[in-house]
Amino acid sequence: MSTPFYRIIDQEQAIFKHAFENKLPLLLKGPTGTGKSRFVEFMADSLDKKLYTVACHEETSATDLIGRYIIKGSETVWIDGPMTRAVKEGAILYLDEVAEARPDIIVALHSLTDHRRSLFIDKTGETIKAEDSFMLVATYNPGYQKGFKELKPSTRQRFISLSFNYPGKKVESEIVVGETGVDEVIANQLISIGKKIRNLTELGLAETVSTRLLVDAAILIKSGLPKRLSCNVAIAEPLTDDEDTLEALKDLISLSI
Ligand SMILES: Nc1ncnc2c1ncn2[C@@H]1O[C@H](COP(=O)(O)OP(=O)(O)OP(=O)(O)O)[C@@H](O)[C@H]1O
Ligand SMILES: [Mg+2]
Repeated sequence: MSTPFYRIIDQEQAIFKHAFENKLPLLLKGPTGTGKSRFVEFMADSLDKKLYTVACHEETSATDLIGRYIIKGSETVWIDGPMTRAVKEGAILYLDEVAEARPDIIVALHSLTDHRRSLFIDKTGETIKAEDSFMLVATYNPGYQKGFKELKPSTRQRFISLSFNYPGKKVESEIVVGETGVDEVIANQLISIGKKIRNLTELGLAETVSTRLLVDAAILIKSGLPKRLSCNVAIAEPLTDDEDTLEALKDLISLSI
């Protein structure tokens, strides 16, 4: 597989590398579409490590991560879950939206994320010590989003934490061009739309335009869809369902591109 495209923004590559070398778990936080997942894919590739990704949701339980017995013919056999496999193989385990998962996952995480670096499998009675090259990376959307769960301080403080945010103009333009091949003039128009919407805090959007939306608009334009239409469906519509707000966003777009 080819190396994922990732434009380094600041010190994140060095932080990840040092966390990995020193066996420290890493927590990435920040709004949607700011490159957190892409960064983890990029780092796994550059460190030549296998990556296990689990998208956590409210039904995700410790069993899903650790493993379960299944019935095979007349026997029951134990199947390792992604967490157990990553711990045994010394891979990177990426828990996306870790706070959403059921509380029993947090219990399993605690012994893995302190000096013990071990996983207790209650169903088999085993305790597995993590391989030296095992690393845990998690993401977390902090409490500014209504309905999102919080992480307890005793969990938070087990991780080195790194914030992601919307990049500056020049970097964001490089991302949009690098990701889509759209020409720079169009990329800059998209970024200026993004910037204007980000400044319009009075619109009361739950989350504002992410780099992901700008990339999506660029993909549609590159594929031949008219520019304004591309921006309306890739930027305005995903941001709100409120008609007045939508109208305001579409006006802003038609004045800008
Ligand atoms: N620094 C970057 N380098 C390359 N692409 C980026 C970068 N930042 C954002 N992107 C683009 O934005 C898209 C969304 O990024 P990604 O999926 O990593 O976001 P995320 O932070 O994981 O979002 P979520 O919290 O919703 O999971 C990527 O598919 C990529 O096109
Ligand atoms: Mg992600």
